[in-house]
Amino acid sequence: MKCVAALGSRSTAARWRYPVRAAASPAGGEDAGSGAVAPDTELHTRVIPGSGEHIPVIGLGTYRTFDVRPGQSVDDQREVLRRFHAGGGRVVDTSPMYGEAERVVGLVADDLGITDSLFLATKIWTRGGAAGREQAQESARLLGRATIDLMQVHNLVDLRTQLATLTELRRDGHCRHVGVTHYLSSRHDDLAALVTSAPIDFVQVNYSLLERNAEHRLLPAAADHGVAVLVNQPFETSSLFGWVRDAALPDWAAELGIRSWAQYFLKFVLGHPAVTCVLPATRVPVHMDENLEAGRGPVPDEAMRRRMVEYFHEL
Ligand SMILES: NC(=O)c1ccc[n+]([C@@H]2O[C@H](COP(=O)([O-])OP(=O)(O)OC[C@H]3O[C@@H](n4cnc5c(N)ncnc54)[C@H](OP(=O)(O)O)[C@@H]3O)[C@@H](O)[C@H]2O)c1
Repeated sequence: MKCVAALGSRSTAARWRYPVRAAASPAGGEDAGSGAVAPDTELHTRVIPGSGEHIPVIGLGTYRTFDVRPGQSVDDQREVLRRFHAGGGRVVDTSPMYGEAERVVGLVADDLGITDSLFLATKIWTRGGAAGREQAQESARLLGRATIDLMQVHNLVDLRTQLATLTELRRDGHCRHVGVTHYLSSRHDDLAALVTSAPIDFVQVNYSLLERNAEHRLLPAAADHGVAVLVNQPFETSSLFGWVRDAALPDWAAELGIRSWAQYFLKFVLGHPAVTCVLPATRVPVHMDENLEAGRGPVPDEAMRRRMVEYFHEL
């Protein structure tokens, strides 16, 4: 089908230097032992240029959704994480800024026995080198891991100091990758400058069908400089669902394997070849299944993405 890019097609992957492949079923997951899975039913992965490691394209955000007070039930969060992992998901993004989220991620991952098979991303969100190192140590304790897969400077807070802290932590084996994050388009130029000059493996940025500023400079810069991209707020913190309400999906969405608006929004983001992984947050297990499904099957190419934008704006 003309407007659907095969994920990992040689030309796209070569141009953006992001070879892709399908994720292996997780050990102990629902697919374990079930034999070969048809390639287009597997969760796609993309490569982290800095390390050559592949990660699945759908991750899990934890802002608000995993902030559960001690003593309250974490059954929903445990079930979300169980389905995420069983479906091939690995990347979980959290932060000391998200209240109890790091503790809850650590707790339910330990309950499920999957702590070591996740790609855990958290952040430093404080000022001063000593405070930064202390916070990173506490995150590792809460998450139950000596080495964190990705440590990021949250919202560029105390950037110069914390970037130095994280670079040291990576050197000493306390984290494997270093990144920077923001959620405002007004800071994309700052992120782009870091992508071109700082020793970072990842940049995390807001990007959605409605808020496409990252396309101008930041995403091309990340692709050109071999920096992996995590996308936050793919649903504009859920306000995108308010825009579409009960509107019908276009008939042609089925060609992309899209059965819900959530999948429409996520596939749009994944259609940008500079994006490595998108981080939708949910506390609802069936939403987790739905979001994971967006990481399988066809991915829209540029022509189809334009069509998706046009249809959305006509509603
Ligand atoms: N500066 C930073 O570093 C930064 C800033 C912002 C975000 N982030 C990261 O990015 C993640 C994602 O951003 P976000 O949480 O702000 O917003 P988001 O992922 O755009 O939206 C989350 C909202 O979407 C709803 N949702 C999820 N899946 C759905 C589905 N299939 N159908 C209907 N509703 C669905 C969730 O509600 P339900 O629980 O009801 O599903 C939740 O209210 C964060 O959790 C965080 O990890 C980082």
